Amino acid sequence: MRINTTIVHGKGMTIDPVSRAIAPPIHMAAVFSFKSAEHGAKLFTGEEEGYIYTRLSNPTLKILEEKMALLEGGEAGAAFASGMAAISTTILALCNSGDNIIASAPIYGGTFALLSKLIPKWGIDVRWAKASEFVREIEVKHLIDEKTKLILTETPANPTLDIVDLEETTKLASKNNIPVAVDQTFATFYFQKPIELGVDISIYSTTKFIGGHSDAIGGVVVSSKELIEKIKDETLVDLGGVMSPFNAFLFLRGLETLAVRMERHNSNAKKIAQYLEEHPKIEKVYYPYLESHPQYKVAKKQMSGGSGLVAFIIKGGREKGKEFLNNLKLMVVAVSLGAVSTLIEHPASMTHSTYSPEELEKTGIPEGLIRISVGIEDVEDLIEDMDQALNKTFS
Ligand SMILES: Cc1ncc(COP(=O)(O)O)c(C=O)c1O
Repeated sequence: MRINTTIVHGKGMTIDPVSRAIAPPIHMAAVFSFKSAEHGAKLFTGEEEGYIYTRLSNPTLKILEEKMALLEGGEAGAAFASGMAAISTTILALCNSGDNIIASAPIYGGTFALLSKLIPKWGIDVRWAKASEFVREIEVKHLIDEKTKLILTETPANPTLDIVDLEETTKLASKNNIPVAVDQTFATFYFQKPIELGVDISIYSTTKFIGGHSDAIGGVVVSSKELIEKIKDETLVDLGGVMSPFNAFLFLRGLETLAVRMERHNSNAKKIAQYLEEHPKIEKVYYPYLESHPQYKVAKKQMSGGSGLVAFIIKGGREKGKEFLNNLKLMVVAVSLGAVSTLIEHPASMTHSTYSPEELEKTGIPEGLIRISVGIEDVEDLIEDMDQALNKTFS
């Protein structure tokens, strides 16, 4: 089956064998009964398969986990309460006190806070390398040593859409026997297949494009059976950040329309990026599929589309940017991304406010940057809205 058919009919979207229902059942049960004391004991030892308690596993979560594994090209999946739960649990599954992680910068503000504040408290050192020159910086700064247990990347990176060269990264990592995890939230498997490029772990905030409707928080990790066992059975069950079965249902529903939404997000975003690039009041535009993007060639190599995020700097910097946001009538001023409606925000004061002004500067996140998550509306209406807001801002 090709990708669009697999999304609709692939594992997990089969007819329910008990009721013949066409939609997956939502098993809201927290706990499952045993046939006997012996049966219960066998489930706990793993001699028999079955459900015990939803923090350990749940039939609705299993449908989502298997579906995401299939679509991402991994062996198994694990579902989490949020993207942050997915990231933090993965790190804690793979690293002990005294180990270190190499992470790409920039990275989502929540992940940055986790890596710069919380993770070091647990005795895990975090070493940073620029996303755009990731492998070169790792080598020049000699970041890898025998205690490096994970390379964590995000590409395209939030919010500047810098691209990490995944092929180069996995080559370096496999030479050193270090697993690579990539945050796939921005591209999704629809535009990027990291596991095919040798990446070991794909991480999602399913809150974004997978859900698509800004109505559920969740996360998923896809990897080999062996690593999912470490991440889920040995870590998630104890840390406890498991997804709600109801949210798993919403993500399964979101997945069914992902392909058509991604096509529209992608074509709308490209048109908006081109519009902004030609506008005299716009200083700079960031979009992986614009030829002016510094890693355009890498983006073309590892992505089949630029996806739905565009960032830009308006002339007059932060002050004019604020005025522009307040002058918009259609685009919604809000954080998050991947929703059917267009969302626009100012990273330095919102999603990336966890960075100090010095950290923003060091990481290369411009103070005046504005990020748009382009929705699936008629792009002409979105451009007209930006046009009227720009005219008003500069009148
Ligand atoms: C790239 C990226 N990864 C992870 C997250 C965290 O996801 P969640 O909000 O579902 O915890 C976000 C949230 O914006 C994100 O943009």
